Amino acid sequence: MTNTPRRRSLLPLLSQPSEGPHGSRSALTCQFKCGNACDHPQPNTTDHATVASVIETAIRRRAVLQGGAVGAGALVVAGLAGSAAAKPAATSGATSTSGLAAIATGDWTPVEPNRRDIVSVPEGYASRVVIAWGDPVVAGAPDFDPYAQTPQAAAKQFGYNNDYVGVLPLPGGGDAEGKTALLVTNHEYTDENLMFPTGAYTTAQIKKIAIQSHGLSVVKIEQVKSAHKGDWKRSNPTRSAYNRRITGTTPFLLDGPAAGDDRLKTTADPTGTTVLGTFNNCSGGTTPWGTVLSGEENFNQYFDKSGTLDSRYTTSYTRYGITGTDSRGWSEVDPRFDLTTEPHEPFRFGWVVELDPTDPKSTPRKHTMLGRIKHEGANILISDSGRAVAYMGDDERGDYLYKFVSADSYIAGDKAHNLTLLTKGTLYVARLTGDDPMAKNADGSFVPADGEYDGSGEWIPLTSDTKSFVDGFSVADVLINTRLAADAVAPTKMDRPEDVEPSPYNRKIYAALTNNSKRGSSFAVDEANPLAKSSVRSALGAPLTLASGNRNGYVIELTETGGDHTGTAFAWTLLLVCGDPAPISCPDNVAFDSHGNLWLATDGNVLGSNDGLFRCPVEGPERGHVQQFLTVPLGAETCGPLITTDDQSVWVAVQHPGETDGADFEHPSSTWPHTGDFPRPGVVVTYQEA
Ligand code: FEO
Ligand code: CA
Ligand code: CA
Ligand code: CA
Repeated sequence: MTNTPRRRSLLPLLSQPSEGPHGSRSALTCQFKCGNACDHPQPNTTDHATVASVIETAIRRRAVLQGGAVGAGALVVAGLAGSAAAKPAATSGATSTSGLAAIATGDWTPVEPNRRDIVSVPEGYASRVVIAWGDPVVAGAPDFDPYAQTPQAAAKQFGYNNDYVGVLPLPGGGDAEGKTALLVTNHEYTDENLMFPTGAYTTAQIKKIAIQSHGLSVVKIEQVKSAHKGDWKRSNPTRSAYNRRITGTTPFLLDGPAAGDDRLKTTADPTGTTVLGTFNNCSGGTTPWGTVLSGEENFNQYFDKSGTLDSRYTTSYTRYGITGTDSRGWSEVDPRFDLTTEPHEPFRFGWVVELDPTDPKSTPRKHTMLGRIKHEGANILISDSGRAVAYMGDDERGDYLYKFVSADSYIAGDKAHNLTLLTKGTLYVARLTGDDPMAKNADGSFVPADGEYDGSGEWIPLTSDTKSFVDGFSVADVLINTRLAADAVAPTKMDRPEDVEPSPYNRKIYAALTNNSKRGSSFAVDEANPLAKSSVRSALGAPLTLASGNRNGYVIELTETGGDHTGTAFAWTLLLVCGDPAPISCPDNVAFDSHGNLWLATDGNVLGSNDGLFRCPVEGPERGHVQQFLTVPLGAETCGPLITTDDQSVWVAVQHPGETDGADFEHPSSTWPHTGDFPRPGVVVTYQEA
């Protein structure tokens, strides 16, 4: 493959915009989504060796051996991240441009960057809002009325801020209504400013409704009978026994080695095995056995305190950002959210949860074996030897990539057995080493001498279900305080790992590293995290300027050595270094189409446009060329992308439309999906018009 220089040198520093840590995110998004994580002391303050210091050692050694200086090469990426606007129809992998496979072949004109309050799609495509906040999920749900919300109604209606999207064909593939499936979504967080008319509710009512507006939804959907094969709508809830809301009070069973540990016991649950609810469910994954995994992400922000914090847990609380000061004040309506009286409640969140949507009576699980971090999601691949291997990211500045390898093997068709796979096995954390001597540009960014940001990696075992590999940590210690255990083995501090997903086509792993405004300052640059300065623009059409840190993010590709996903060695390369001229910024969620192309959804674009969804081939001459398929409305984030295996439907969750500075229910910046004069998060399917 030919590498094309992407940028010979960074522009001179013209100004210092966006020097604050928040990038382009609105104050509302920062407050409600992650509890203003950027304003807090960084949770990872370890000083273990970074790639940079390893490399600095290497450069000295090599300089001595070679007796000369190491030249500074141009900044390049593995594959040119080309301009969408300049790129007409792509041809990668295309054997035919007829029919609906065009979604995968890229035979469509890219959507231009824009600031419109709509879902913009290429000419020849159409979209439908399948379900939005407040729509009925469970039979008997009342019609949505933002002025008459109740906790009881919210528990039956579609929750707020949909993120992950899974579409699971129903057993048998359909019924008398035609082709049917289950749509499974997460509801990551609530934005009380946008949800509630001023003065219409008491604070207690708002908190109770918010608790019921979190969680997940299971919704039966049916293919629309038309020539547009990719078009789907939601079924009437009265025709579905599957429809279900999981909320902030739904019972979950903890399983795996840490279940029942003293730190998981509370007044209401002296066994430490049953937790009420799930919060901040961000991304997820659909398992090969037909269940859905969901990551509990910024769970730390849901707890307040009536007095001092339990000093036994100071180190753990600090490492997870649990301060009791970011409160949504939920202890007013449920005392378990008071850290002073229930110091163990936060240990019951931060897990990967598993839901079997085809069994509406099933109790969802929280898998302690997959560790407790700010889980973005979890995506599974079955190894050649039959093991379930889960890839995961901890979404915090300077936190780590993880994988889990099951002890038992997957058995096709045996769901009862497969539902136990995530309870026994080995949890690993990743250390990445660059293959170049350390060389810095004038602005402090890393310059790879061999022209590529790449190197080797090691999966460091943390614990199995029976034996800890970290000195001073028991198995339960590793699983409950996974960040602390990982710190002890010196993994590589990454720039906010979001979705980490194995491609079912080339079986390589792709991780979105969304951004880190402190790279180059609090966190040293290294070959895997190379940028100390980034191009940003304040608005569409505004000039590009430089801001400190990695503002636009990367996409990294991991290749397991020998194709063995259960092994401990891998190679890595940065597929994309985002930002100008690549018209993509802040990659977050990833997906694959049937041609094996990577699809990237963005969250927090700092190039002036609304967020979007991009197709990105990973093989052949088009590798690394991004092409924008859609954009989401003003203020929204593109979540949960899913390209169905028939390439006929592209699903996205439109999260937090209108979440811009100064907006509230009475003063919205978006009214998408234009069903009223206020914004509603919703799930959209896009299909090719016949
Ligand atoms: Fe909820 Fe890591 O994004
Ligand atoms: Ca290199
Ligand atoms: Ca995100
Ligand atoms: Ca995300």
